[in-house]
Amino acid sequence: MERKTFYITTPIYYPSGNMTIGHTYTTVAADTMTRFRKMQGYDTYFLTGTDEHGQKIEKKAAEAGVTPIEYVDKIVAETQELWKLMNIEYDDFIRTTQERHIKVVQQIFRKFWEQGDIYKAEYEGMYCTPCESFWTPTQLEEKDGVKVCPDCGRPCQPMQEESYFFRMSKYQDWLIEYIEQHPDFIQPAKRANEMLTNFLRPGLQDLCVSRTSVKWGIPVDFDQKHTVYVWIDALSNYITALGYGTEHDELFQKYWPADVHLVGKEIVRFHTIYWPIMLHALGLPLPKQVFGHGWLLFGTDKMSKSKGNVVYPQPIVARYGVDPLRYYLMREMPFGADGNYTNESFLTRMNADLANDLGNLVSRTVAMIEKYFDGIMPAWDRDTEEPTGEALRKHCADLPAQVDLQMGKLQFSQALTEIWKVIGECNKYIDLTQPWVLGKDPEKKGLLGNVLLTLAECVRFVAVLIGPFMPSTPARIFEQIGLQDDRLKTWDSLSCFGKLPDGIRVRKGEALFPRIDVNKELEALSGPEDKADKKEEKAQAKQEKKEQKAADKKEKKSGHEEPEYPAEISIDDFFKCKIQAARVVHCEKVEKSSKLLKFTLSLGADGERTVVSGIQKYYDPETLIGRQVAVITNLKTAKLAGIESQGMILSAMDSQGNLKLVSIEEGVEDGAIIG
Ligand code: MSP
Repeated sequence: MERKTFYITTPIYYPSGNMTIGHTYTTVAADTMTRFRKMQGYDTYFLTGTDEHGQKIEKKAAEAGVTPIEYVDKIVAETQELWKLMNIEYDDFIRTTQERHIKVVQQIFRKFWEQGDIYKAEYEGMYCTPCESFWTPTQLEEKDGVKVCPDCGRPCQPMQEESYFFRMSKYQDWLIEYIEQHPDFIQPAKRANEMLTNFLRPGLQDLCVSRTSVKWGIPVDFDQKHTVYVWIDALSNYITALGYGTEHDELFQKYWPADVHLVGKEIVRFHTIYWPIMLHALGLPLPKQVFGHGWLLFGTDKMSKSKGNVVYPQPIVARYGVDPLRYYLMREMPFGADGNYTNESFLTRMNADLANDLGNLVSRTVAMIEKYFDGIMPAWDRDTEEPTGEALRKHCADLPAQVDLQMGKLQFSQALTEIWKVIGECNKYIDLTQPWVLGKDPEKKGLLGNVLLTLAECVRFVAVLIGPFMPSTPARIFEQIGLQDDRLKTWDSLSCFGKLPDGIRVRKGEALFPRIDVNKELEALSGPEDKADKKEEKAQAKQEKKEQKAADKKEKKSGHEEPEYPAEISIDDFFKCKIQAARVVHCEKVEKSSKLLKFTLSLGADGERTVVSGIQKYYDPETLIGRQVAVITNLKTAKLAGIESQGMILSAMDSQGNLKLVSIEEGVEDGAIIG
């Protein structure tokens, strides 16, 4: 019989800088899932890689004084090293600069063009010839009354630019219906709602899918001055890596459609709108699922280099090994939700879950077999009843099914919780049966043997089931319980409880996970800079509290009460306000404030800015991500709750006293001037 296939992918990451613990999070999740399905007998395929084109990389390379390919080669090599270190077993690593990818992307683009999904349109803009760049009116700067290039300061001329556009709108109704009829397609389900409400139902815009200004990209083969838009290029990786569109498309035939694309929540939109439409236009089936997981946060922030709160896995692994970090990443937060990374929570979990719960169970079990049975696994004594362990044995026998259920939903953390419930029960069972008391009474030898065998068999179950999460740990456990037979280290061998053979020799080894001194380790993990930061943080926190109070006061005062307006103002007065369309890239509650939301807004080519707004009561921040809002962008910056707010989002109060954001009709570019 043919084995069932399982194809899983991570996003292909930008090699603009080294991979962080955030990228590691998705990659470890994909690896864990692959190992789990492989253990169950699936024919698995795990793809990861790097997304190497685009302006950002071009710029980074120029800054470093090297060519783009030289720049990415180095980071790709380091990325692959990191995955090796993290014990990631991918089947393929695709790079979008590889010939096998480029050729097929060109072919896909051409097909879209030939079948009329793509059209060419012209629009006018201001052009800087020396920089070969188009600028929108908002990007231009003014020098002595002349519109100049924001990069080089030289005058720009009006010029027409042609671009290719994809008719996304043509597929909109089909996609809405597809998503509605396939509730598993976008997970978690709330992300499907976001896509429908924020993007699909309001109407899709046609997408600009080529650039003449970006040189570091895949050339459109029938119109060489254009390069393919990076997302069209990047998303295609999931099929180009399988040989789609080539003579050797065996992998594609075998593994497509993918079982799941794992992605961070910020790129769900690309994977559940553009990608399905591209596939449908190619006549291909859609991936069975796109899972948008949450962010690993640092404090209340997403990790970012500009904020200086980046955590890299290497120093953690060097100090504590790979498995504790893999365990922590999969255990700490439910897959789908955001969670905080702190050194403290990592170290606490190491002690509590790994050293205490798991480590102790293994060492106590082995030590008692050594002590009471000279290190030889006792046989089950049929003549002795052992009712205390009945529930535990049943619970453990059911464990594989529980883990399977949670893994089927990509609920890694829940699967581990199920395993740790059994570990906890085992430890309780030791306290309850008190083997050290039984050991004193020769008449209780049979009972003692049954207790210890029950424990050792539970340990075997646990060792097999944690394998996908912590690949190096099972072998160390098997060694200690003296299990050599590989057939008893498999998923299939967990089909019933009680297979552990008697007569094998246990071997007490080193502690699996030695207990650590959390305070000492915290010191060791935070560099000298961090320590200085801590002092500063405290002082800052004090200052922020003060500011928050003042801001709250100010907010109360201005609230949304009507100020006194002058009877009339001149049009010039109105034009003093720069109001722009902006896209919500990120939105979250401001800690310690019941009113404020902190926004990261994209003004398209004008970049990003942070705005704080007092609308927490009216909106769930997650639902605003992706939405376009109107912002005054030349307002003097103000500090609200210690955060510099660089603008004001426009809103109005409805008849029930709820604030509603002013919305903009579809089709307006981010950064466009409102007025
Ligand atoms: N190149 C695109 C993806 C194209 S896929 C066709 C891209 N690259 S990226 O380098 O920015 O990687 C983003 C992804 O890295 C996220 O979607 C997520 O999978 C992972 N993460 C990076 N930092 C993360 C956190 N702090 N927390 C959780 N995941 C994070 O977007």
